[in-house]
Amino acid sequence: MEHHLAFLRELVKKGGPDSSEYHELTSWLETIHAEFKTGIISEKDLQLLRDEMGEALSILTLQGFVYHKPHGYPGDYEIIEKIYLEHTSNDPELRKWDLYFQLQKAPLAVRNRKQYFLDLLNSLEKTDTGNSGKRVLNIASGPARDLFEFFSQGKGRTLVFDNVEFDPLAISYAKNLCKEFIEHIHFLHTNAFDFSTTKKYRLIWSAGLFDYLNDKKFIFLLNHVLPLLEDDGELVVGNFSPKNPTLPYMEIVGDWRLRHRTREQLFSLAKSCNFKDEDICIGQEPEGVNLFLHMKRGKAFINQ
Ligand SMILES: C[S@@+](CC[C@H](N)C(=O)[O-])C[C@H]1O[C@@H](n2cnc3c(N)ncnc32)[C@H](O)[C@@H]1O
Repeated sequence: MEHHLAFLRELVKKGGPDSSEYHELTSWLETIHAEFKTGIISEKDLQLLRDEMGEALSILTLQGFVYHKPHGYPGDYEIIEKIYLEHTSNDPELRKWDLYFQLQKAPLAVRNRKQYFLDLLNSLEKTDTGNSGKRVLNIASGPARDLFEFFSQGKGRTLVFDNVEFDPLAISYAKNLCKEFIEHIHFLHTNAFDFSTTKKYRLIWSAGLFDYLNDKKFIFLLNHVLPLLEDDGELVVGNFSPKNPTLPYMEIVGDWRLRHRTREQLFSLAKSCNFKDEDICIGQEPEGVNLFLHMKRGKAFINQ
């Protein structure tokens, strides 16, 4: 352990890694992660390493924000928004840590998934299925930066959104961000598991929620919202893939644990909701780190 502590002490002393040291830090995190998984490093040792980081693991850095979870749960709207905005600290003592954080594949995949959603929404808007007012259900809507960009990027948007979100702070933040477009977005302050409505949706989207759920809850929530799909509706659920190279950093430093799932696992979860093979497809953002499970009721997938 002493050599691990010494490595970290050196980095902390110089205010975080320079870009020439990124590779070494990433390999070191992989080693720590492997040693933790095999029991060479204990939970207590991990705590010693985190203690060694001092202010670098305070709420003032992105990694510290992830670790401390000031909103009481992982993946809150504030950290997601900081990722979207590529926020980095102005404090020269801490900035290098944030630069390292923002360059990792997982934050990149989060930014890419926003674009994936925007592409899907743009394709949906172009399809003419004869339905009046295409309605989208956005489950776990967070900061709503995606919808802000969607409405900012195009005039005369026809889609209308119901955003389901359980954190009141996320809702106030998102309402303020989207205030110009508020007549197109309805916010529903409720837990997704309790959400019910008589409305039907052409698209149900959820990113950053299902990869916190075990398989039982994953299937339960799918079955809970599937009846809300229109006859030609599509449900799209994001989930991180085990090919996430940022996993050791997320777990070791940030204690940010997701249920990473392969394409095959996502496919089989969809099958257990009685969808036929041809009505299931798996997409991905350019890094292949965030996968998207598509399940359709109608003839074609939206982005085909
Ligand atoms: C990781 S963020 C994703 C936000 C947004 N979908 C995005 O990709 O930008 C997850 C959001 O889901 C919300 N959330 C988590 N569990 C939820 C639940 N069971 N019901 C409703 N909202 C939930 C959190 O409050 C948080 O704002």
